[in-house]
Amino acid sequence: MVSRDRRIAGVARSVPVVPALFACLLVLTGCGGGVHGTPGGSGVRDPYFPKAGNGGYDVSHYGLRLAYDPDAHHLTGTATLTARATQDLSAFTLDLLGLEVGKVTVDDEVARFNRAGQELTVRPGRDIGRDETFRVSVRYSGAPETVTDPDGSREGWLRTADGVLALGEPTGSMTWFPGNHHPSDKAAYDLSVTVPRGLRAVSNGELRGETTARGRTTFVWRTSEPMASYLATLAIGRFDVSRSRAGGGLPVYTAVDPSEAAASRPVLGRIPEVLRWAERRFGPYPFSTAGAIVDHAPDLGYALETQTRPVFPGAPDITLLVHELAHQWYGDSVSPESWRDMWLNEGFATYAEWLWEEDHGGRSAQEAFDALYSGEYFATAEAGEAVWAFPPADPPSAARISDPPVYWRGAMVLHKVRRTVGDERFRAILKGWAAEYRHGNADTADFTAYVERRAPGKDWAGVWDDWLYGEGRPERP
Ligand code: TRP
Ligand code: ZN
Repeated sequence: MVSRDRRIAGVARSVPVVPALFACLLVLTGCGGGVHGTPGGSGVRDPYFPKAGNGGYDVSHYGLRLAYDPDAHHLTGTATLTARATQDLSAFTLDLLGLEVGKVTVDDEVARFNRAGQELTVRPGRDIGRDETFRVSVRYSGAPETVTDPDGSREGWLRTADGVLALGEPTGSMTWFPGNHHPSDKAAYDLSVTVPRGLRAVSNGELRGETTARGRTTFVWRTSEPMASYLATLAIGRFDVSRSRAGGGLPVYTAVDPSEAAASRPVLGRIPEVLRWAERRFGPYPFSTAGAIVDHAPDLGYALETQTRPVFPGAPDITLLVHELAHQWYGDSVSPESWRDMWLNEGFATYAEWLWEEDHGGRSAQEAFDALYSGEYFATAEAGEAVWAFPPADPPSAARISDPPVYWRGAMVLHKVRRTVGDERFRAILKGWAAEYRHGNADTADFTAYVERRAPGKDWAGVWDDWLYGEGRPERP
């Protein structure tokens, strides 16, 4: 498999150098179909992860057919992506890290490919015209990797005692399937996973099928609403599964590592209550199913808002549950346009914690804000200072996109908006923002423009300059 990659690499690498001439010759000889493609870009210019995502096409659907054997640590997969070309394409790139690629087809015809780092470049037999829908299918296998983020945390394919837990923020999903791994390209998913009998495979969305044959069980999961690839998850192992319904009949599916079952049950039992509260605060729940996954992976110190089914590294407390469920609106339905827009995820999810407390007889958001401003929010002075390290809308590097300013100062921005417009209009802004960008993407400029549209005539420049973009602690709280 490896030697096959290398052999093709020599051919494919020469392509981008002569695309125009090559395409013209094809036209002159009458076999080119008239499309003069150029290669799509190998990134989407993300300010922090320039190689993440790819240009020239837009994925609408991922069909993933996987089989994994935890004992052998071996994954085999076929990924079939349906995409639309956004330019005439002679070649395009997918993100895939590690693994061996056996075969690539485009619209059922064998395509050449080569690999360099996380970029899998595919060169179809003929160019794809702008706006054409095409299907690329990649057959691959191997032992998926765990990656270490710039901030030192681990993601990707995390092995557990009885299987695996796949997590993808910000770039880990490319360790288990090829794709356009940037939040700006959201798509629907159908995932089928075959595992040894006795294990379960749990993912996002709805469970559509579970069949056992010849000692193996296949689980079929469907995510119908658009999903950013970093929010895809897959947990394989032994789980206590529970199914229930929340308000309006919304199905709730939770899968919990048996060792955490007793501790998790009371808090996960509150999912319907939290969703009911969140719908009052943020508007209709954006997805057709809900739930949670609790699983142990070594050194996993964080939870993740994986779409419809957030992952927790152990039994969560109510605050963490509120945080990850709030992300279903802010982050999962309204997704960041780039990794610079993380505060739109984390600032909102943190503010949701404050609102929950405020609505349940605890500290008010104003008190939380005041404690942060005065430095008393955290146990140590250093932690208090860290909130002012940089402006939430502009983290200094990829290593810091989940640092304290993104969470807490991000939440403070929202509180400043609330103080500027009043409680009633702020409530409408939280709901309206989730409705306006539902199942889409938004960046910081979209947010400030939205707020200014909803509440014109205020000193917004002052709020944004001081709280969103300004260095250091603003002078006036
Ligand atoms: N989004 C997670 C949360 O707050 C935290 C997180 C996990 C994270 N991995 C990350 C944030 C990578 C940024 C980058 O619920
Ligand atoms: Zn979060």
